[in-house]
Formats: sequence, C-alpha cells, structure tokens
Amino acid sequence: MPTSKAMMPIPVASRVNRFSYAIRNIVAEARAVEARGMRIRYMNIGDPVAAGFKTPPHLIETVTRAMRDGHNGYLASAGIPEAREAVAADYQNRGVHVSADRVLITTGSSEGIDIAINALVNEGDEVLVPLPTYPLYTAALAKIAGEARYYRTDPDRDWLPDLDHLRSLITPRTRALVVIDPNNPTGAVYPPATRRALIDIAEEHGLVILADEVYGELGFEGRVPLLGTLDPNAPIISSSSLSKAYLAPGWRTGWMVVAATPRLDPVLVAMKKLADGRLCSPGPMQYAVAAAMNGDRSHQVSLRRALAERAQVTTEMLNAIPGIHCVAPRAAFYVLPKIALPPGRTDEDFVLALLRETGILCVHGSGFGMAPEQGFMRIVFLAEPSELRSLYGEIGAFTRDYLQRT
Ligand SMILES: Cc1ncc(COP(=O)(O)O)c(C=O)c1O
Repeated sequence: MPTSKAMMPIPVASRVNRFSYAIRNIVAEARAVEARGMRIRYMNIGDPVAAGFKTPPHLIETVTRAMRDGHNGYLASAGIPEAREAVAADYQNRGVHVSADRVLITTGSSEGIDIAINALVNEGDEVLVPLPTYPLYTAALAKIAGEARYYRTDPDRDWLPDLDHLRSLITPRTRALVVIDPNNPTGAVYPPATRRALIDIAEEHGLVILADEVYGELGFEGRVPLLGTLDPNAPIISSSSLSKAYLAPGWRTGWMVVAATPRLDPVLVAMKKLADGRLCSPGPMQYAVAAAMNGDRSHQVSLRRALAERAQVTTEMLNAIPGIHCVAPRAAFYVLPKIALPPGRTDEDFVLALLRETGILCVHGSGFGMAPEQGFMRIVFLAEPSELRSLYGEIGAFTRDYLQRT
C-alpha cells in the first residue's frame, strides 16, 4: 500500500521560484487564446527564421555534409579547431587580437553566457545588468543565487546607460558588468564615448565585462564594432552566435571569446572546465561556424536593409498612435514603446488585453525588468512591412479604445 507521503506532489527546488522567462512564459497564455479559436500573430520572439528569413544555403550545405561525412560523434568540449580558429580570425579582422585557444564554441550564446556567469559568480555576488535587460542574465543568476543589480538605461537619451546610476550600484561584491550592445529589447547602439566609459568603470572596479554582441552584424548603418576594439587589454568576454546574423537560431551554435589579457586566464580555465561537464555543443552545426565566418555574407546586407525598413515603418506608425511613444531603434529587430497607461493598470494588463482582444502577442516591459506601471512593451518587428502596417493599425485601434476605458 502506498503511504500518504507517496501521494504528495514532489516539491521542486526553491531556485525555480526565482527564475522567470517572460518571452516564453507568455506563450502559454497565447495557446489558451488560440484554443478559443483566435489566430495569434507572434510579435514576441526574435526568430528571423520563423518570420520567413532564410538560413544561407551554404551553411545548410555545410551542416548536412558534416552529417553525411559522419561527423556525428562527440567533439572536443571547447569546440572543433576549425570553428575556434575561424572565430578568432574574424575577431582579428575586426580589430580584436585573440587566439583560437581563447574561443569556446557553445550551445548558442545562451549556454556560453551561463558558463561565464557560473565561472565568475559565487552565491551572493552581484552582476550589473542593464535595465531593461534581456532576461537570460537574470535567469542565469537566479539559478546560482547571484544578485542582478539593474543599471538604468534612459529612453530620453536613446536608451543609453545612466553611468552615474551604474557607478552608484558597485559594491565590493560586484563581479561583472553586462553590456548588451546592440541592445535587446531597446534596439540601442552605444556611441564610442559611452563604450569607453563602460570599459573605464569596469577597469576601475576590477569587473569583467560580459559583452553581448549577438546583434553586432545587424546595425542599420552597418556592422557595429566589437567592444574589444577600444581596448585590447580590457577584461571583456564577448559572446555571439549563428542565431541572428546567420539566421540559424535553432542550431544552437554560438561562441565566447575571452580577451587576451592574462587577468582572464583563470576564468578561461574555469569556463573550459565547466564546458567539459556538458561534453560538447551540437556537432554538425559547429562545421557551419567556419563557413559563416569565411563564406558569403551577402545575406547580411539584405537583412540589414530589410530590418532598417521595418524599423522605420515601426517607429513612424507607433509614434502616430495617441498614447504610444517609441525611441527609434538603430539595430536588430526590437522596439520598446511606452504606453501612457491609466493609473492602476500594468504593462501586463495591457499586453494580455491586446492578446485576448486582437490575437497580437507582445511581451510586457516588466518581463525585461521594467516597473509594471511604466507601461513598456517589447515588439519584434520581423514581419513583412505590409503585415507590420496592418498589425500597427490594429494595435492603434486597440490602444485608442483601451486608454478610454476606466
Ligand atoms: C541580447 C541577446 N543575447 C543572447 C541571446 C541568446 O541567443 P542565442 O543563445 O541563440 O545565441 C539573445 C536571443 O534572443 C539575445 O537577444
């Protein structure tokens, strides 16, 4: 006979309560709305392939050839030499001198960032994270009881970091500074003076910079320079991947590049040790890294053009809606408009009402750390411009109506 204890639900670890990922969590509500018969228009997740952009054929060919050629076994934990060398050569061509042994190939940049945070942060240690932030950082910290300290970025100054606020958050327990440039969810690109100041602050306080450069190829005016070009000795760990700029997010293939300063050698050793624990990142896809770095990149030219056009439609149409204001993005495919909510309403109330009444799915700003009453929401503008126009028409009609409700 089972005891009464055997009938009890199995408890989960308390860290799960600290963990949240609004970008994906909100999809559960969308499924419920869909089950009631409404068509959902997904403006919540930054997947260019889902929006119809095509993975470059030479990359697909390289991966399928790798599979056919039998490259289906485990690989070295840090990645295949060809991929590591190609990433190092790419960074060198862009002005960051780093050798292949400082490159790790990871399961998307997500895993690499998780590995770096695990290598750096003890329980109770603090990491400076931009506000709003891409939630990967706070989620990774939640799992290991690290503390995220949010530094403000300012919508009245093109979403640039508030450096005084950032400085005021530094304590003896601060270990790292996350810089997401170009930025998700704001679309900001930081000018050299801001980047220089961020490096100086990190140097002054002995912080490691986690430079998230996953959108670096997607500046509307061309490639955004790597942060490391400003200072080869700065303690920067840069991350990027095939997901966005090479249109293959499902391949889960990314890289971490640890700057060539001996100060970071122990961290590099620790990251490699942690990487051993998960054996290797997906094998056949690693072969696409060298093909991506060395092969045809013309898709990026057309992608940048397509994104710039969509950004313009987005900014014009959103700013024409009474009660909505947005800062024009300068890279990537995100915008974070502010809705002038009536008192007592939250960003999530707005996003859920929009979803239930129109089927349009966006993510509330509080999913990126913003205060709920500030009324921000993130829109992914990857759809065709004609479709975007009609979506913004619907968002406008909904917003006019919503803001009149008491
Ligand atoms: C700023 C930022 N960093 C990292 C990632 C993770 O990308 P991946 O793990 O696919 O490389 C994303 C994905 O949207 C992102 O927006």
